Amino acid sequence: MSTHFEGSTFCIHTFGCQMNKHDSERVAGMLEGLGSLPVASIEEADIVVFLTCCVREAADTRLYGQVASMKNIAVREGSPFDKRYIAVGGCIGQRDGEKLTEQLPHLDVVFGTHNLGSLPGLLSSAIENRRQAVEVLAEGTEFSSALPADREHTWAAWLPITVGCNNFCSYCIVPYVRGREKSRPLEDIAEEARRYGEAGVKEITLLGQNVNSYGRDLYGEPRFADVLDAVDASGVERLRFATSHPKDLTDEVIARFGTLRSLMPALHLPVQSGSNRILAAMNRRYTREHYLGLIEKLRAVVPDIALSTDIIVGFPGETEEDFMETYRLVEEVGYGQVFTFIYSKREGTPAAAMEDDTPREVIQERFDRLVDLVQRKAWEANQGELDTIVPVLIEGVSKRDELVLAGKSPKNQTVHAPVPAGLRPEDLIGTIVPVAIDEARTWYLSGTVVDA
Ligand code: 5AD
Ligand code: SF4
Repeated sequence: MSTHFEGSTFCIHTFGCQMNKHDSERVAGMLEGLGSLPVASIEEADIVVFLTCCVREAADTRLYGQVASMKNIAVREGSPFDKRYIAVGGCIGQRDGEKLTEQLPHLDVVFGTHNLGSLPGLLSSAIENRRQAVEVLAEGTEFSSALPADREHTWAAWLPITVGCNNFCSYCIVPYVRGREKSRPLEDIAEEARRYGEAGVKEITLLGQNVNSYGRDLYGEPRFADVLDAVDASGVERLRFATSHPKDLTDEVIARFGTLRSLMPALHLPVQSGSNRILAAMNRRYTREHYLGLIEKLRAVVPDIALSTDIIVGFPGETEEDFMETYRLVEEVGYGQVFTFIYSKREGTPAAAMEDDTPREVIQERFDRLVDLVQRKAWEANQGELDTIVPVLIEGVSKRDELVLAGKSPKNQTVHAPVPAGLRPEDLIGTIVPVAIDEARTWYLSGTVVDA
């Protein structure tokens, strides 16, 4: 391919989960490698890449609308190309393939979740042949970590350890668009972590749809605890991981929260529902009692561990009593953060065929009640930090005030603190500084930097 990308610009729009955010760093790395320059908006970009999500309907319809609205967008002045090029990848690309190019005739490239690395070739082919280029593979062996990257932050890195999912929760489209679970060899993970450690990366977040089953396909047994040990040994200061499935969280992994230097005292453990009847219909393969037992074990190791979760309201057949079981579970656990979702029917999943007659207003009312509770519990969880000094990894400045630093505590709480006199934000971004907390709100803590 002899396409010249020099002088061109690109922007990436990313929807959905952290895996897509990680993939978008790889897309940026590949396009920069070709000589294209990143820009912030579609208006300035000659190449627009969408990394899409179809886990719920809202993001799905938005993508089609957004690409449709770009139909008559003029070529940028100074562009080396004759038109603006649009590429759609990620989960919608994987699911819809050629349907996308049929419905959106001005769309140039479609790629899937298994062939991120094909994007440069597909773009070149679309530019040279003036034809739509589509490639979606049923399965892939490639880990996008092997591709060049332009990481969003130099001090933080996402590190995928598995891709795909074998769980087939009855509401979820992910196993159909991300394929079966595949683990990366432990040595590759350890090597990547070591490189990050040497490069001064402060925080590594391990990624996978269900990190706790890591290794089952490669070693015949889960070896997630070994991954934690290897990454801890890299010297990186902070280690986190997402996402965990409660059915696979082992005692061995729970024990690591007490022994590993870098493992942060925070865990995202999606419960989805507090009703055993609904959990069974969701094919989650654990009970409310099992889940609460895990929380108890975690708190025996780290008494003030920060817990977060995902909850779906309005799963087909959910009754008021089922919902109240969820409500009471949220009250009992006392999460610092809860991601609440209204059930969204996804064609092709088993739940899509289940009878679903709960009126929309009833579901909305349950959702609103739950959100109120979540806020109250989040406020309560933050009060424990008042009058303590917490080490904060500074990520940038507050959206509302650029003289206020914003960062994350070990428990993943957002922390604000004024830039200390005589320093600029750039001096502290990417470093860990102690902050004395004097205010605890629902969604953030604030305080003062001490002896930075
Ligand atoms: N409807 C609503 N929420 C969903 N999730 C996954 N599938 C659906 C769906 N069909 C939620 C789950 C999951 C999170 C990433 O998205 O709570 O944990
Ligand atoms: Fe979807 Fe369940 Fe797999 Fe999570 S564990 S990605 S909810 S099927």
